[in-house]
Order: sequence, then C-alpha cells, then structure tokens
Amino acid sequence: MDSIVLFGPPGAGKGTQAQRITESTGLPQVSTGDMLRAAVGSGTAVGLEAKRYMDAGKLVPDNVIIQLIIERLKKDDAKGGVMFDGFPRTIPQAEALSQIAHVSHVISINVPDAKIVERICGRFTCKTCGFVYHEVFNPPLEIGTCDHCNETDFKKRADDNENTVISRLEAYHNQTSPLAQWYKSKGILCEIDGDRNIEEITQDILEALN
Ligand code: AP5
Repeated sequence: MDSIVLFGPPGAGKGTQAQRITESTGLPQVSTGDMLRAAVGSGTAVGLEAKRYMDAGKLVPDNVIIQLIIERLKKDDAKGGVMFDGFPRTIPQAEALSQIAHVSHVISINVPDAKIVERICGRFTCKTCGFVYHEVFNPPLEIGTCDHCNETDFKKRADDNENTVISRLEAYHNQTSPLAQWYKSKGILCEIDGDRNIEEITQDILEALN
C-alpha cells in the first residue's frame, strides 16, 4: 500500500494537517519529531543522542533516523502505508525510504520564512493527545480545554524559541529543501500554498490525494 509524505519547513503546518487528514486517508501519522521527543522523554540512548541536535535546531544524524523508521514500519498499523510527517529530511533519508516503502504523493506545504517564527513561538499542544494549537491563529474553541479530548493540560516544546527556529530554518534550506526538486523529478511532488487558513489547506491536500 502507498504512503504519503508531508513536507515543508518547520512550522509549515505538517503536524496540524496530518492530524486533520489521518481520518480521511486511514493512514497513521508517523512523525520523526514526535518519536524523537518520546525517546528524549524516556531517556533512551537514542533520546540522549538526539537531544543535543534538537536543542541546537540541527538535524539528527541520518543513521539514527533511518533506524527509527525501519523499526516503526515493522508495526502492524504500518502495513497499509503511513503518512510521514517531517521525514525524510535529507536525500540519504529519502533514498533509504525508497528501499523500504512506496511513496505515492509528497505534499509540500509552502510557507514564507517571515511567517514561521510567529507560528512556532505561538504553538502549544495538548499534553494528553498532542493536538496542536496556536495562541492566535488556532486556539481551542473553548479556551483552556482541548477540542479533541476535552483535557485541560497543555505544553510548549523546548525547541520552540526564536534562536532555535533560526537554526531549524537554516537546516531546512541547506539540507531539506533540495528534496523538493528530488521528488519533483520523480513526478510525485504536489505543492500547496500553506499561507492560508488551515481548513482551505486541508481541502487542497485531500483533493491532491484524490
Ligand atoms: P519536528 O518535530 O519535525 O519539527 P519541525 O519540522 O521543525 O516541524 P514542526 O513540528 O515545528 O512544524 P509543523 O510543520 O508540524 O507545524 P505545526 O502543524 O505544528 O522536528 C523537531 C526536531 O527533531 C528537528 O529540529 C530535528 O532536530 C529533529 N528531527 C525530526 N525529524 C528529523 C529527521 N527526519 N531528520 C533529522 N532530524 C529530525 O504548526 C506550527 C504552528 O502553526 C502551530 O501553532 C499551528 O497551530 C500553527 N498553524 C498551522 N497551520 C497554520 C495556518 N495555516 N495558519 C496559521 N497558523 C497555522
């Protein structure tokens, strides 16, 4: 079964859109960022190594990421394809992916750098279900209560600060953005204007997937 890739700069809305389209597509969201944060939280060897890079806004080494993905794709829920969020981020990661899964669509969510800092610095997530919000652009319907699970505890990410965002954007432009051309040459890149409201973007992605 085919997988899809959500691609774009930090704060483009990959996680936000993944949470919205997972029901329509039936594909589980596989976020390397979430997997790494879980590893950091549980203090595993992978987490300890990854934390240094994440705190500095740098990419975690390819071998660590590829191994995480190989293990994740062995799980039963991945047998019918998955929705990759934040993976691949380098050409070697994309080459490794092409050996282990078939990708039918790469959805590139395009957002100008000037919008990224305010998106990331205003982000918070539900502590229980991980649903993503923004203080100004996308607050919960009832302030203080998660729309998705009704819990009332929220958290902010350690790397969501202005300094780290600048490094993350640099990493994106130097190491990740060349992948857009790589996927374009394979005829599977769908470019979406991510500088619009969340619902319009969701509709465009669903259309591109159909
Ligand atoms: P990761 O967790 O993947 O972070 P990222 O790519 O920097 O992406 P974000 O999660 O910040 O943004 P997003 O596009 O999901 O935006 P969101 O939907 O939350 O990676 C973290 C770190 O882990 C990396 O720096 C690296 O160190 C490491 N890592 C992870 N994967 C790796 C890999 N493959 N290789 C190497 N290292 C790896 O939206 C952001 C905010 O904007 C939210 O508040 C949201 O509500 C709001 N928003 C969303 N859409 C809109 C809209 N249309 N209009 C207005 N606001 C919006």
